[in-house]
Amino acid sequence: MDNLSEIGELLISQEQIANRVREIGQDISRDYKGRNIMLVGVLRGAFVFMADLLREIPEGSSVDFMAVSSYGNRTKSSGVVRILKDLDVDIRDKDVLIVEDVIDTGLTLQYLIRNLKSREPRSLEVCTLLYKDLNQKLPVNIKYIGFKIQPEFVVGYGLDFHEKYRNLKSIHLLNQ
Ligand code: IMP
Ligand code: MG
Repeated sequence: MDNLSEIGELLISQEQIANRVREIGQDISRDYKGRNIMLVGVLRGAFVFMADLLREIPEGSSVDFMAVSSYGNRTKSSGVVRILKDLDVDIRDKDVLIVEDVIDTGLTLQYLIRNLKSREPRSLEVCTLLYKDLNQKLPVNIKYIGFKIQPEFVVGYGLDFHEKYRNLKSIHLLNQ
């Protein structure tokens, strides 16, 4: 299948994303008033969302990244989570906000939460751009959700399929 035909129906437009990111930024700014937030982005998918989100929250916020792998090259969760890159900074006593691109089974997130909690941050919350509603299998508490979507595979705005389509400005279904 060529690249063009892999990109399916438009699900969330550039404008819808921008508006929602601004709203979430306002919610976060209000909730964390007067505190410095440590954003922990989950590579690689979340880097586009995180870059936009960072510019909607107050000065004094810092960023770091973790890279985890849960899927390999498939589009189904394997159940195996590996840390490929750990944080560079100590998060003890910090207000940490995990920034995710999409929560599907919640497996990656559950692992991350357990791992980061053991480092004793002052607070630990989660912000995800997308949340696959019906696929939610694990009980994880997510404070900020951009869009709830059907359990279908999507690409664009940082989300990839075999490392492709991260550059799309809007979010599309993937034709498989
Ligand atoms: P989970 O562990 O099943 O919640 O999967 C979470 C991770 O799988 C995300 O952080 C993404 O990297 C990847 N993922 C899940 N669904 C999609 C999708 O629709 N498009 C691209 N990547 C996805
Ligand atoms: Mg991810």
